[in-house]
Amino acid sequence: MDFVRLFHAENPIAGPVEPRVHEVRDEIHRTGTYTHTPGELAFGAQVAWRNSSRCIGRLYWHSLRVRDRRWVNTAEGVAAECVNHLREAAPRRRIRPTITVFAPDRPGLPGPRIWNEQLIRYAGYAMDDGSVVGDPRYVNFTTMVRKLGWLGGPGTPFDVLPLLVSAGDGQPQMFTMPGDAVLEVPLSHPTHPWFEELGLRWHAVPAISNMCLEIGGIHYRAAPFNGWYMGTEIGARNFADTDRYDLMPVVAHHLGLDTRSDRSLWRDQALLEINVAVLHSFEQAGVTMTDHHTESGRFLAHLKREEKAGRVCPADWSWIVPPMSGSTTPVFHRYYDEAELSPNFAHHPDSLERGLGQGTVT
Ligand code: ARG
Repeated sequence: MDFVRLFHAENPIAGPVEPRVHEVRDEIHRTGTYTHTPGELAFGAQVAWRNSSRCIGRLYWHSLRVRDRRWVNTAEGVAAECVNHLREAAPRRRIRPTITVFAPDRPGLPGPRIWNEQLIRYAGYAMDDGSVVGDPRYVNFTTMVRKLGWLGGPGTPFDVLPLLVSAGDGQPQMFTMPGDAVLEVPLSHPTHPWFEELGLRWHAVPAISNMCLEIGGIHYRAAPFNGWYMGTEIGARNFADTDRYDLMPVVAHHLGLDTRSDRSLWRDQALLEINVAVLHSFEQAGVTMTDHHTESGRFLAHLKREEKAGRVCPADWSWIVPPMSGSTTPVFHRYYDEAELSPNFAHHPDSLERGLGQGTVT
């Protein structure tokens, strides 16, 4: 009822709410659940984004493209539509925020489920000497899909993992990701030619696929969504974290920095150059990407807009503030409202997921 009322309050064009309230009540009495109209689904998905406290990029929540695929409930169907999602999300390298919504849970009939944290992620191969080739975050996931029969990729640090999808209560099934669905950007630096020789690359589209979309009490367990990247996600986390690609020492070495003392700030200098390279490379490739200064400004514009609309905008300071140069961005210098609003995206509290070692943060 809260959701239906919210939908009608924010969308006067949908007409009076009471007839819809009766209709939903009636369907729930008859079937134990109810079906969102296409308009409710699209609005629900957009507001789930608007309510995502950890996301700095919410200014454009209303432009989210919603691909309604609620009739798709087989593993094959879900995998094929995930591939289509990726193809449609970046036409001519311009990234469009997009969500694909698959069949919801129904009484006694769970919807499909995607086990990958994102549609595109790189394998992490654990070597005998304890080192990892690829993304250490996905060592457990990689080990598991290999046990399920994945032969592994060519063995580069950037092998794209297969999709793991289950339908209803069924066993997860594996699907390889076709190359043309994976837009990638090779990394180079505007003034350091050696940077290119590090052989780094990253995928253009971040598409979270393991969160449950909850709208008006209905759970869409498979609802992968993407935005575009903010440079620091790649440059200050994926490439820099010591439990990820751990590139600061490598880059510091090439920069000729003194890595013996923390106080030389060699990490900070290396971090900066990695991030310069990320933004430069995406720009060169013509692929949509934002930087943390621009995005911080946009987020404050979003807060202003929401306030004007008479809404609370919950935000989590520890996620909103960028992972480098925090105090140089305006989002650092204030506090935010905290609240859990619905619709929203939630992590599945799931044992297999923990077994997959992907943690709960993205
Ligand atoms: N931080 C995640 C990554 O590096 C992506 C999370 C979503 N980001 C986004 N810009 N929509 O892959």
